[in-house]
Amino acid sequence: MSTSELEEKRQERLLSVRREIPPLGLGTWQIPDGPECVNAVRWALELGYRHIDTAQVYGNETSVGRGVRESGVARDEVFVTTKFYPSSRDPVAQAEASLRRLGLDHVDLYMIHWPRRGATWAWPGMERARELGYARWIGVSNFSSDQMDQLTAEATVMPAVNQVQFSPFEYRRGLLDECERLGVVLEAYSPLGTGRHLGDATVTRIAERLERTPAQVLLRWCVQREIPVIPKSTHRERIEENAQIFDFTLTDEDMAALDALDRTGGTDRAYADRRHRSRSRG
Ligand code: A2P
Repeated sequence: MSTSELEEKRQERLLSVRREIPPLGLGTWQIPDGPECVNAVRWALELGYRHIDTAQVYGNETSVGRGVRESGVARDEVFVTTKFYPSSRDPVAQAEASLRRLGLDHVDLYMIHWPRRGATWAWPGMERARELGYARWIGVSNFSSDQMDQLTAEATVMPAVNQVQFSPFEYRRGLLDECERLGVVLEAYSPLGTGRHLGDATVTRIAERLERTPAQVLLRWCVQREIPVIPKSTHRERIEENAQIFDFTLTDEDMAALDALDRTGGTDRAYADRRHRSRSRG
């Protein structure tokens, strides 16, 4: 295949994954299994979300599955994602266990949660899980550019997504560029900095001018970059607020002011260092 044909194929894949993934999802990291989680998922779906993100290590797949069922929204209208816990060895067996807990016959996206013990060893098992129909798409989370390069050099089925911590304060431009070059959609977790970014002066100033909230400004920044985003909340009114991001626009000046908040130096890594990493989802 020529370079331009390869490039065209990657761009096509990027477009088809973007078409499939609802741009706004509910993140469920740190929501304990139980009624709080069932309610958050149910409310999100009632309020129009069509994308719910969980992981084996969150320990809440049972409640996520219950919330999806209790919402009454048809299964094929909801994009459900979970993540393989790479301290275990077998992505296929772990996918089967996830599906049992979720009470579903497949997930829409199954990701390697982080590149533990190397970037490539788990991928054949992820491909097998897809072949068996356990996941419609497979992807990764917390992978750097180097790790994406290693993986895509060996993959038979290309990863659809790399889910990483991403916000104006963690504007990993190098990683975003490399994902796009490879035809992989970068997805943003902790877009509010787990709440830390909401009090920032620049974010607040833009929010006040637009008569929006800081959370909406941070989420809109992702939407305008075509980056699927999964804010977490267990409060119905915040889940609703976080969905009101498709009826306003940030100006070029707003986007530039937000871009300038980056503290990563436009890194191509998925997290800064071990200390930082232990604070991010992983
Ligand atoms: P809570 O779950 O109590 O509503 P992130 O998505 O970056 O991980 O951020 C999640 C954190 O931000 C949670 O602590 C959540 O609190 C809080 N949060 C989510 N949405 C909002 C909002 N619209 N306004 C204020 N805090 C929010």
